[in-house]
Amino acid sequence: MKNLDNLQQQVNRRRTFAIISHPDAGKTTITEQLLLQGGVIRKAGTVKAKKSGSFATSDWMEIEKQRGISVTSSVLQFDYEGKHVNILDTPGHEDFSEDTYRTLMAVDAAVMVIDSAKGIEPQTKKLFKVVKQRGIPIFTFINKLDRDGREPLDLITELEELLNIEGYPMNWPIGMGKGLRGLYDIGENHVELYRPEEGQNRFLKLDSDGELEGNQPLKEESIYQQTMEDVSLLLEAGNQFNEEKVLDGKQTPVFFGSALTNFGVESFLNQFLQYAPAPESSEVNNGEKTIAASDETFSGFVFKIQANMNPAHRDRIAFVRIKSGEFRKGMDITLARTGQKIRLNNATEFMSSEREQVETSVAGDIVGLYDTGNFQIGDSIYSGKDKIEYPELPEFTPELFMQVTSKNVMKQKSFHKGMKQLVQEGAVQLYRNYQTNEYILGAVGQLQFEVFSYRMKNEYNSEVVMTPIGSRTARWINPEQLDTSMSSSRNLLVKDKFDQPLFLFENDFAMRWFHGKYPDVELEAGFNEK
Ligand code: G4P
Repeated sequence: MKNLDNLQQQVNRRRTFAIISHPDAGKTTITEQLLLQGGVIRKAGTVKAKKSGSFATSDWMEIEKQRGISVTSSVLQFDYEGKHVNILDTPGHEDFSEDTYRTLMAVDAAVMVIDSAKGIEPQTKKLFKVVKQRGIPIFTFINKLDRDGREPLDLITELEELLNIEGYPMNWPIGMGKGLRGLYDIGENHVELYRPEEGQNRFLKLDSDGELEGNQPLKEESIYQQTMEDVSLLLEAGNQFNEEKVLDGKQTPVFFGSALTNFGVESFLNQFLQYAPAPESSEVNNGEKTIAASDETFSGFVFKIQANMNPAHRDRIAFVRIKSGEFRKGMDITLARTGQKIRLNNATEFMSSEREQVETSVAGDIVGLYDTGNFQIGDSIYSGKDKIEYPELPEFTPELFMQVTSKNVMKQKSFHKGMKQLVQEGAVQLYRNYQTNEYILGAVGQLQFEVFSYRMKNEYNSEVVMTPIGSRTARWINPEQLDTSMSSSRNLLVKDKFDQPLFLFENDFAMRWFHGKYPDVELEAGFNEK
């Protein structure tokens, strides 16, 4: 990059976000429409075909092929109207894992997709909590307007009641399902017609009196008149749009639309790109220093490590979110944790499943670095002399637990080695039974266990036996308040990798019972459950 002004301009163009949703709300469909807008794909169906396994397979690990799903998040990027967009995929369904949460630590904004008939569903709620904790902007897209769904106002109220975030409608549906006629765009003061007739303009302007311009038949329809009355009431009595609140994640701009019929997606993208922030400065070194995204020093952190993308080479790829400066192939960096100097020769940038060599990437972008075992999740890397260390990534509370032992008692050494490395890498969480020291693995998704067991066998030649303990609610307890007799089969006492004690409660009932019995004992939840 020629000069710092240019770097600043490049950084300002970046918009890096993730889409969070419950399975089936339409994340894949909307992603595809966004890629269409960005000119990355030419026809709808490409991403879906990939998801269902009928698209070209890459050399992902065997387990991914078997399941026909993507084990870890990938990064999609495109240029649109002068902006460079990075969408970080957050795997759901069976491939929900800690990576899904960690990806949310690497984005500057989130888009929450909600099915208009179903409202807020459990996985959306889980992901939302992580985004909310970070205080980054959250935009809401209420999808499937072409089907009968719940009342718009009801859905906005639900945002406030279930997620405790103010909702501000950016547009308002005129009808729904079979009666869907269009969207009234509040900011633009125009109507976007659903399925305009041939030759008819898609966007109809309103004049200064709030009347549809021209001789539009829609004017006479009762659904239109009713909607406009509702909107004027809403604008008087509802929340006011507040950009500051939006940037702090305290108000969510709400867009209605239908991803499948590509209705409302383009206006959503335009307004989203207008309000979503470019990469900002970050606090580093325990808050002692602030570094601007456009600082000439390159820095970033590893938020994900994907192993065995090519089983023949046993390589791993560390995904780095660039937080400042510019990344250049072959540059020398320092790994903050160890002080080790590393030359970054092999970098790879992700464009769907294709891997290409990176030329330049700047703050806001994601680069994948080939890794031979140097990196751990959460590692900071930087160029230049002065240390730059980003805050540690939080630990996400696992919900599923397994007791794990080595199948072959003679192979304890490889069992322990594999276990140590995979835990260090962040593939699963390791706990030990407080009394017996037995190994217990924790994960936020079932797939993590499968990947763990697969990799133990294939990379460390160690077959493991896993005994499910099931779904549990984990709560840390102040060690000073701990009495081992508090533990029972319904609240298993374990310690984490820092030897901190925690209880694994069988269910919420068991936790309430514990609270009742030991009212003074404080229990603490993880980052994603606060
Ligand atoms: P996900 O990634 O969030 O899991 O959802 P995905 O996009 O795969 O969408 C889930 C289902 O919802 C798909 O139907 C998809 O076509 C449908 N869908 C998405 N957006 C809309 C919309 O705006 N309106 C309507 N009516 N449907 C929508 P499917 O039958 O499960 O898949 P397919 O067989 O159609 O591919």
